[in-house]
Amino acid sequence: MNNLKAKITGVQGYVPPYVLDNKELETIVDTTDEWITSRTGIKERRILKGEDQGTSVLGIEAVKGLLEKTNTKPEEVDLLICATTTPDMLFPATANIISNGTGLVNAFSYDLQAACSGFLFALTTGSQFIETGKYKKVIVVGADKMSSIIDYSDRTTCIIFGDGGGAVMLEPTEENEGIMDTMLHTDGSGEPFLHMKAGGSRRPSTAETVARREHYVHQEGSTVFKFAVTNMADVSANIMERNNLQSEDIAWLVPHQANKRIIDATANRMGIGSEKVMLNIHKYGNTTSGTIPLCLWNYENQLKKGDNLVLAAFGGGFTWGAVYVKWAYDPK
Ligand code: UT7
Repeated sequence: MNNLKAKITGVQGYVPPYVLDNKELETIVDTTDEWITSRTGIKERRILKGEDQGTSVLGIEAVKGLLEKTNTKPEEVDLLICATTTPDMLFPATANIISNGTGLVNAFSYDLQAACSGFLFALTTGSQFIETGKYKKVIVVGADKMSSIIDYSDRTTCIIFGDGGGAVMLEPTEENEGIMDTMLHTDGSGEPFLHMKAGGSRRPSTAETVARREHYVHQEGSTVFKFAVTNMADVSANIMERNNLQSEDIAWLVPHQANKRIIDATANRMGIGSEKVMLNIHKYGNTTSGTIPLCLWNYENQLKKGDNLVLAAFGGGFTWGAVYVKWAYDPK
């Protein structure tokens, strides 16, 4: 047995330049800036435009920046895990495309799919490779080009989602810091409420599936909302309890950015004020696997060594979870 933990030693995000704001959405579907803002907290989201531009584009940009920031040579990286629900292709893994695009010649890589909880599932998995002592540098990417599976004639889904991603570097530490605890859950009975009907092996793509608009996110919003509010709040409270953390011990809640009302309910349950809640939903919307690393990237300069963070997410599957992180470095 060793006492190794995995610590985050750097974070980098990437969002594409095109801004799709609520005003533009008003010209596409029957909605209003007022409705979207009050029901979700979203003002704008980013869209990856252009031919042949997949999720790997987002991942490659984030990983390039991460390598530079952490002074890491690409050949030093042992493993890259990419959490995504919008892979460039059904195969090969987007992680392989990102590794190839960033020169990670010695890394093995694979994708992991847990919808909006994907980054937390991948962070947990990556940290366990570090804890064995066998792997020294693991990159965890969370990225999604949600615009590739969104129906821009469906006002109940197109207003929420956007494109973006981020990446963290994990390295070993013998100090009492880093990934301290994780709680992950799935409930496959959630499938009817949030899924994509066609394009997989159960219902392969045909002209008919395209005509029936089955290659887009199908979400029964209010049902998903109810499950999300309860489970994200519960798992966040449970991880605090298991680690004897009181609300005053928490420096930051890092929530999945699906709906500001879900985030508020989670913070409320944890007993923490809005000043401790990372928020970027207003500018990026819901980037699925990208939301949590993008938050860490946006707030990196405010994080101090020793800060207790609770990362929490809920998403399709259903999947949900929380990760307790003790931040390992001061702003550089
Ligand atoms: O990322 C992880 C998983 N996803 C989530 O966590 C998302 C969870 N769900 C939600 O965030 C919310 O359910 C939505 C934002 C998707 C929808 O908000 P809601 O408050 O649950 O609305 P609703 O679906 O219950 O619809 C209420 C009303 C309906 O009108 P009627 O039937 O009451 O007349 C909708 O047709 O709001 C209408 N509506 C809209 N109106 C203007 C739905 N979308 C829109 C829209 N603009 N974009």
